[in-house]
Amino acid sequence: MTIADFVRIVEVGPRDGLQNEKAIISVSDKIALINQLSGCGFKTVEATSFVSPKWVPQLADAAEVFTGIDKFPGVSYPVLVPNLQGYERARAVGATEVAIFGAASEAFSQKNINASIDESIERFIPVLEQAKTDGVKVRGYVSTVLGCPYQGNVPVSDVVRVSKRLFELGCYEISLGDTIGIGTPKNARAMLVAVAGEIPMASLAVHFHDTRGQALANILACLEEGVRVVDSAVSGTGGCPYAKGASGNVATEDVVYMLEGIGMQTGIQLDKLIDTGRWLSQLLGRETGSKVNRASTT
Ligand code: HMG
Ligand code: MG
Repeated sequence: MTIADFVRIVEVGPRDGLQNEKAIISVSDKIALINQLSGCGFKTVEATSFVSPKWVPQLADAAEVFTGIDKFPGVSYPVLVPNLQGYERARAVGATEVAIFGAASEAFSQKNINASIDESIERFIPVLEQAKTDGVKVRGYVSTVLGCPYQGNVPVSDVVRVSKRLFELGCYEISLGDTIGIGTPKNARAMLVAVAGEIPMASLAVHFHDTRGQALANILACLEEGVRVVDSAVSGTGGCPYAKGASGNVATEDVVYMLEGIGMQTGIQLDKLIDTGRWLSQLLGRETGSKVNRASTT
C-alpha cells in the first residue's frame, strides 16, 4: 500500500447524522454509538456540535456526550462550533479539535447561522486565534459548494474564495460540502479542481449528501483528481435541518465497500461498521440508508 492508496474517512454520523433525525436518542446511546465507531478503525469521528440548542435541539447534550465518550488513542473527535461561545463550551469539556462551518452561498449562510458570509468569517477569526493559542486543530467546512436550496446556482469562484479564506485563516483542512446532494461527477470534479488550484489537494476533503443518488459517483470522480479525505455517515443518516430538502449523507458502509473494492485502503472494519449501522437504524426506528448494509447477510 502506498500513501496514495489510503483514504481517511471522516465519520460524521454522530453529528451530521443525528442533527437531522426526528428521533432524539439518549446521551448513553450517543456515547455507545461513538465508542462503537471508534472501534471500527476511524481516525476521525465527528462527535457533536456546540451550536445553539434552540437551533439544533438534537445536539443540546453535546457537553455530556463529549465528556462521556472513550477517547481512543490516535482518534480525533472534532466538534462543530459556530462562534467563540461554542468554542468555549467545547474547550470546557476538553475538545482538542473543532470545525467551523461557512458557506459559499449567502442565502444558505443566513438561514443556517444567521449571518452573511463576511459576518460569519468575522465570527470565526477569534475562534481561529484562540485555537492557535490553545494548540487546537480547526477544520473548515464550506457548504453549498454545488448548489443552494435558496439561491440555486453557486458560482465556483465563490467556493474558491471562501475556501481559500478559511484555509489562509488557519484551517488545516477544508471540507467541501454538497449540502443538498445536487451535484454530479462533472461539476463535482470541476469544483474540486478549481479549489485545488488555490489549496493543496492534501488539505481538501469532500462531503457529499446522497439526496439524488450521486454521492458515490461524485466521490469517485474526486478520488480520480487526487482527494484522499472523504466525509460520510454510518448508514446514511442525517442532513442539515436548515437546508430545505437535504437528506442523508453518503453511507459510510457504501463508501468503504467501494474504496476497498477498487483497491484503496481505509483501515475500517466493514463487518463491525455494518453491525453499528444496524444497531443505530434500529434505535432510530428506520431502515438503514446503506445499500451495502442491506445486502449484507452476515
Ligand atoms: P443567533 O440566534 O443569531 O445567535 O444564532 P446569537 O449570537 O444572537 O445568540 C442567540 C442565543 O443563542 C443566545 O441565547 C446565545 O447565548 C445562544 P439567549 O440569550 O437567547 O438565551 N448561543 C449559543 N448557545 C450555545 N452555544 C452556542 C451559542 N451561540 C449563541 N455556540 C448561531 C447564531 C450561529 C448560534 C445559530 O444560528 C446556530 O447555532 N446555528 C447552527 C445551525 C447548525 O448547526 N446547522 C447544521 C450544521 S451545518 C451543516 O450541517 C453542513 C455541513 O454538514 C456541511 C454540508 O453538508 O455542507 C457542516
Ligand atoms: Mg453535511
